[in-house]
Amino acid sequence: AEDGYDLWLRYRPLATNDAAALQRDAQSVERRDDTPTLRVAVDEVRRGLAGLSGRASADGTSAHPVVLATGADRDVAALRLPLATLGDEGYLVRSTTFGGRRVTLVTANTDRGVLYGSFAMLRYLQTGGSLASIDLTSTPRVKLRVLNHWDNLDGVVERGYAGQSLWDWWTLPDFRDPRYTDYARANASIGINGTVLNNVNAKAESLTPRYIAKAAALADVFRPYGIKVYLSARFSAPIELGGLKTADPLDPQVAAWWKAKADEIYRAIPDFGGFLVKANSEGQPGPRDYHRSHADGANMLAAAVAPHGGIVMWRAFVYADTDPEDRAKQAYTEFKPLDGKFADNVIVQVKNGAIDFQPREPFHPLFGAMPKTPLMIEFQITKEYLGFATHLAYLGPLFAETLASETMQKPGETVANVVDGVAEGHTLTGMAGVANIGRDRDWAGSTFNQANWYAFGRMAWDPTLAAAPVAREWAAMTFAPTPAIVDPVVGMMMGSREAVVDYMTPLGLAHLMATGHHYGPGPWVADLKRSEWNPVYYHRADKTGIGFDRTKTGSDAVAQYAPALARRLADPATTPERELLWFHHLPWDRRLASGRTVWAEMVHDYDAGVDYVSTMRRQWALLQFSIDAERWTKTATYLAVQEREARWWRDASVAYWMSVNHLPLPPGVAPPA
Ligand code: GCU
Repeated sequence: AEDGYDLWLRYRPLATNDAAALQRDAQSVERRDDTPTLRVAVDEVRRGLAGLSGRASADGTSAHPVVLATGADRDVAALRLPLATLGDEGYLVRSTTFGGRRVTLVTANTDRGVLYGSFAMLRYLQTGGSLASIDLTSTPRVKLRVLNHWDNLDGVVERGYAGQSLWDWWTLPDFRDPRYTDYARANASIGINGTVLNNVNAKAESLTPRYIAKAAALADVFRPYGIKVYLSARFSAPIELGGLKTADPLDPQVAAWWKAKADEIYRAIPDFGGFLVKANSEGQPGPRDYHRSHADGANMLAAAVAPHGGIVMWRAFVYADTDPEDRAKQAYTEFKPLDGKFADNVIVQVKNGAIDFQPREPFHPLFGAMPKTPLMIEFQITKEYLGFATHLAYLGPLFAETLASETMQKPGETVANVVDGVAEGHTLTGMAGVANIGRDRDWAGSTFNQANWYAFGRMAWDPTLAAAPVAREWAAMTFAPTPAIVDPVVGMMMGSREAVVDYMTPLGLAHLMATGHHYGPGPWVADLKRSEWNPVYYHRADKTGIGFDRTKTGSDAVAQYAPALARRLADPATTPERELLWFHHLPWDRRLASGRTVWAEMVHDYDAGVDYVSTMRRQWALLQFSIDAERWTKTATYLAVQEREARWWRDASVAYWMSVNHLPLPPGVAPPA
């Protein structure tokens, strides 16, 4: 059945002519060396070619083979290909003559590069390319391309909407579910090379011998696919597991405990990636409990893993309920002074925006503000604030919008330049995505959610990629490489995230979701003890106006950006309208570029969001007979849910704003039926 299990690695037969060409140009698959990685690469190419050409895979030697070999191979070396610039993970795929035969050569400096090249070749075929003229080369621009699983040891995934955790801790380490291999294949196909197995809200237990053994079993499965395992570490583990009185990072006993723990982990997992740490955030323990800095904490852990080549990803997602400062400012206030104070094997992980994975946020002011510190960006692939699994929202445009943002710290510098290390010449670079993966048959809770996993991987490989071509690849691979399907599907996807912004949080508003679960509207909520968790904290609407004043007359968060950008954001007239109410508290009747008032524009956006979802439903209906029944029906059902809930968002929000501003509906707007 087409239940979505195959993701974008479906390998269904191509159209007749293309399949025939593939049979002619790829008669067999050979590998020139024997490593676990080359073995899985050959398996994948065989599986892919057999599926795409619609024949049982040929074998042995033949006139037109696909050859997988590293540059160390003598015949490859003789070709004098430009491999030097490919680094450890780049690849080159080319049709060439080799040992007297016409071959498709997949090569690289390492077997991992060959694996990535193999997947790139398959992608090229799946999206309509032909082997006769193949010439592909690519090198990742980012070193750590990592999924963060917020998976608890009891199987519940925090903010997960695709079922239980994939990791069956109960049957590990003995049973290695074949699904773990398919997970690794999917990740390797898009270049992901690391996975943090457990939730950032970590339990110390994940560092006990029995869990280390389970993690080691997963690491064994993932290793041939070039994927390293990391663990989230609970900062107070020396107390909970080690019986120490303190977790003070400057206490020698604490440092020794972590060193021994790291040694123990590396005995089981020699290529263990390192630790991810959420410290002093939302109740988690951390170095601030001992009046030490985040750098003190990170560096202590970094010293424990350094002898083994490990790293520490230290999160900058910090804010405290005791701190009266604008929540959007707290991470910068805490981390900016620590620039240059982190050890070489520490990378600071910063969310894309300063609050929390909203449908739209301006880029985080730390990007470009800590030039001496490697910073990695953290996106959320799971849609905590964007309608969970049911709402269709392609996040490619969100990722690309953030990455393309100009920091204005230096001429032309973008967030992508900070992330890929070009801005400061950092070589430790990374991008993390909070996974949307669970045990559902389709992995991500819906077919279209798979696109967000896909886009994250592709953009982590190359943060300068645009959202539309990535969507085209995904649609061609996931459905079929025909314009009659790809065009309307990509059409739906490209505006889908903006539609969510429109019906949830127009004009730069944020955090208006019902509290706790974050599903559905709740702009009226004002009674939570932690004031910064109340939606009213964010919109600040009253009779006269709406929005959060983050200029000098308010929290002055704009001053955390580069001076030129801060000047621009200080004035509503030069602030992008899509971020207007994030930075400004404005009268309801202020005129915008459209000629409409703020109030009329908001209502216009709510309607536009609802209309977009209705249009997606109609477009999807037209594809009914082009897409298999199971995937079509589930998506159609979800779109109906989304349409109903987009109306709910609009109507509930508009009604609430009217109770605050006492304004009538703008002219021309019909009251909801
Ligand atoms: C959000 C999310 C939490 C999560 C936190 C984090 O606040 O709602 O579930 O733990 O982000 O990123 O640490």
